[in-house]
Amino acid sequence: MRIGVLTGGGDCPGLNAVIRAVVRKGVSEYGHEFVGFRDGWRGPMEGLAGPLGIEQVRGILPRGGTILGTSRTNPYKVEGGFGKVEAGLKQHGVEALIAIGGEDTLGVARRLHEDGLRVVGVPKTIDNDLAATDYTFGFDTAVNIAMEAIDRLHTTAESHHRALVVEVMGRHAGWIALHAGMAGGANVILVPEQPFDLAAVCQWVERRFETHYSPIVVVAEGATPKEGTMALATGELDAFGHVRLGGVGQMLADEIERVTGKESRAVVLGHVQRGGTPTAFDRVLATRFGLAAIDAVQAGAYGQMVALRGTDIVRVPLAEATAELKTVPVERYQEAEVFFG
Ligand code: F6P
Repeated sequence: MRIGVLTGGGDCPGLNAVIRAVVRKGVSEYGHEFVGFRDGWRGPMEGLAGPLGIEQVRGILPRGGTILGTSRTNPYKVEGGFGKVEAGLKQHGVEALIAIGGEDTLGVARRLHEDGLRVVGVPKTIDNDLAATDYTFGFDTAVNIAMEAIDRLHTTAESHHRALVVEVMGRHAGWIALHAGMAGGANVILVPEQPFDLAAVCQWVERRFETHYSPIVVVAEGATPKEGTMALATGELDAFGHVRLGGVGQMLADEIERVTGKESRAVVLGHVQRGGTPTAFDRVLATRFGLAAIDAVQAGAYGQMVALRGTDIVRVPLAEATAELKTVPVERYQEAEVFFG
């Protein structure tokens, strides 16, 4: 059979490991052929595709990014988008598609399946906010990058007796902030799920200075103050209606300096968290997802997504996987709060 593969949404360390595993097992064990669609859903819609064989996937296991390219194109926001995807698959003789992506890409995959196409999903996101899977690959890499940054910021903050605010990714879910902050010994962690009280943050910061250590505040980009006490910048929307975030870290540093009188600096880690080589955990998880995805195609398990449950890779309906976001539960946040201040 000829199978299409695409990667959509924000890139993520481990995407290439999935592509490699799909192709290696698909060719050697099942005798399939593959077509690599470029730049997410834009690939099938605009006929951007090329051969994807063992040759093309050699050496890509440790490489970050995606050899297929990606985009946030949403076919259901484009006039006649479904027909264009269907025609693009037909043009390349593709009978089934493996879509590797996050909430948005998998939401499109679910709708395409409902509209009659044969699609299997593979979850990815550094945010780890997809329901139905315990972890997504890319998250561990992002957390390690953020943790290393926090480790470094501790020493410079202490040398200068400053407060340092570290803004990490996480638009709707604070998993990266929670894990990186806990691993890096942050003094305050702010997540989108728990609107923060600026006065409490400033108190924790001051308490930390009293013990002659400098505070590190880790804030997820989507964190918001309680009752709109601090104005936040809003930005333009992408094709899935998401606001382009960024700015809470700087605003918080300014407010901390104003209220406490202590010098404060903000560091925005941004796309550094998504770049570069995946950790061993992410390489293994991505490889296992790739192997399971080609098995799912072989079994005709369309409309399904592969997922990690405990240590097992299982299949779950795409409808279930995209129904709701997995946010940080209050009990997990309370564990971190023990170390605030
Ligand atoms: O969804 C992954 C993610 O990295 C989010 O954490 C972040 O809000 C967003 O993508 C950034 O999007 P872009 O790559 O379009 O700047």
